[in-house]
Amino acid sequence: MNILLELKNVTIPTLDQKCVIVNNVSFEVREGSIHAVIGPNGSGKSTLAYTIMGLNSYRISQGKIYFDGIDITNMSLTERAKLGITLAWQEPARIDGLTVFKYITLGIKDKSNLQEKVKEALRTVNLEPERYYNRIIDETLSGGERKRVELAAAIAMRPKLIILDEPDSGLDMIVIEDFLNIFNKIKALNMTILLITHREDIGMVADYGTLLWRGDAILTDEFPIVMVKYCAKAGLKEFCKRALFKNGGKCFDDEYIDRIFREEGLL
Ligand SMILES: Nc1ncnc2c1ncn2[C@@H]1O[C@H](COP(=O)(O)OP(=O)(O)OP(=O)(O)O)[C@@H](O)[C@H]1O
Ligand SMILES: [Mg+2]
Repeated sequence: MNILLELKNVTIPTLDQKCVIVNNVSFEVREGSIHAVIGPNGSGKSTLAYTIMGLNSYRISQGKIYFDGIDITNMSLTERAKLGITLAWQEPARIDGLTVFKYITLGIKDKSNLQEKVKEALRTVNLEPERYYNRIIDETLSGGERKRVELAAAIAMRPKLIILDEPDSGLDMIVIEDFLNIFNKIKALNMTILLITHREDIGMVADYGTLLWRGDAILTDEFPIVMVKYCAKAGLKEFCKRALFKNGGKCFDDEYIDRIFREEGLL
């Protein structure tokens, strides 16, 4: 599988340069995968997400970011967006008064077959197009519907990479089973997802993961392996067992979990 995004020794200091938020982080995101970045509050996840999007690229003090083989380290947000990077849920859709149809079309460059494109995007987020595209974006849409419409707008742009951070509980508003289904549909459209979360249950939909711990990327691997490490470091053994059980955690039996917990000095 191709590598779509690569971070090489990325260090991001605070604006005043006095502290390091993200420290010498390296990992790769495979094309067509769901890659979760997990870690506790304050571990640097959002900082990393915004930096990849280019919202504060100037803050990288060391390292490189490659997208689709291109060095994007010094590119602006607009240049990165053109290459196919999109950050969903960065801002809630505040364009009250627009119809869902109009809102979703805003980001679509090629205006041919607009109707079909909007329908496809709405179906991907499990909203019936006929019921929604004439709805006005206002408070009559439920929280979850709004989040889905915002995600549909990102999907309609057909980016190569969708970065999903979880501000304002964007993820919380959509039920987990639905999420699995939506993510699989996004994957089927050949998009890669970088999922930023501290909700481990949501992370379970991921193929791969990176564990951020106080600014260090301490492990990148298949998601359940990363998850066990996270639980061990956070002292969440019972939680971990439950979450892995839900995921069918065949290879992650008690013995494996015990070993990782032992390594962390927790057993
Ligand atoms: N400008 C800044 N000056 C000082 N510290 C900052 C600055 N910006 C971010 N930080 C700190 O960097 C750390 C990482 O923040 P970030 O928002 O990336 O964490 P996060 O992993 O997304 O956390 P959460 O799970 O709560 O969303 C936090 O401790 C935050 O307080
Ligand atoms: Mg955050």
